[in-house]
Amino acid sequence: MIEKIEEIYSSFKNELNALSKQAEVLNLKAAILGKKGSLSEILKGLKDASPEERQKIGPVSNEIKKSIERDIIDKLKAIEFDEINEKLEKNRTDFSLRDSLRELGLQGGGLHPTHQIQREIEDVFLSMGFEVLDGPHIEDEYHNFEALNIPETHPARDMQDTFWFADKKHLLRTHTSTIQIRGMKERKPPFAFVGPGKVFRSERTDTTHEMAFHQLEGMMVGEKINTGHLIYFMKTLLKAIFKKDMEVRLRPGYFPFVEPGFELDIRWKKPDPKDESARHSGWLELLPCGMVHPNVLKAGGVDPEKYSGFAFGLGLDRLVMVNYAIEDIRLLHRGDLRFNKQFASF
Ligand code: PHE
Repeated sequence: MIEKIEEIYSSFKNELNALSKQAEVLNLKAAILGKKGSLSEILKGLKDASPEERQKIGPVSNEIKKSIERDIIDKLKAIEFDEINEKLEKNRTDFSLRDSLRELGLQGGGLHPTHQIQREIEDVFLSMGFEVLDGPHIEDEYHNFEALNIPETHPARDMQDTFWFADKKHLLRTHTSTIQIRGMKERKPPFAFVGPGKVFRSERTDTTHEMAFHQLEGMMVGEKINTGHLIYFMKTLLKAIFKKDMEVRLRPGYFPFVEPGFELDIRWKKPDPKDESARHSGWLELLPCGMVHPNVLKAGGVDPEKYSGFAFGLGLDRLVMVNYAIEDIRLLHRGDLRFNKQFASF
């Protein structure tokens, strides 16, 4: 009897291997394990066997039954996998819709200039070994202020008009510096990352102010990181954006989360020096930055005795404005296609 059972199993294996459809596999299963299945039939004969025989056959047939069930499950999985792959292969989606739209004489989409510049800068930093991190728009007071060395009573809170939620604990992040804290907590030094994104301030809008705008935060922490490193990376960044060496100057700047803190200005000339509105000529304030305050390192779980770091916050919309000599920041957010199309990346 045992030989018979083993025979059934090996012919089952051969048949199973040859199958490629789910239904065939299920039929095969029924033909063996079903009520009238070959294995079931044999086991029916057990009742006529001697007690010793039954004791021997029982465990063997159970084992084989289990193996068959396992093989069937594996096979069904493999078939499903093949089917999915086949479908994917057949229904390969062509995402190059842009060209088809054009063939139809329609206007396709493109990247907003702010995002174009954001991606360009991300690439520069990725090439220098930085990571690119994301952070939530809705933040808590701790990450936006407290952990950045701005306690509740600190007047620096007034520098950033904030959209608070009704619970007075949550807010729309006023800067991407929140990503400093989140990034530090998840890593061990040395590390370096940038964090781009939208930020929000409850401000009256005018040509240079918007209530939502974009920043790109950057941070590098390690042993003996100093201001020289900060300047090197900032100059490298500016060179990549403006395609030439930029003259920069550092002025003292106050931000509670850096010490010392700086405003990094670039020497800037408008393309047309005769232009009356060339008010950006001269030094242009572009990049607030500084050496990370020890309290902030501590809040991020980094030992300030052992490590130091720099941080900066680049205004992306401001950069687009400088780059393309755009006079009014509100143009960037209006969604007017006549404006956007001038920059779209196609
Ligand atoms: N978070 C600051 C702001 O939005 C900018 C900044 C970032 C300054 C990092 C220093 C270091 O005003």
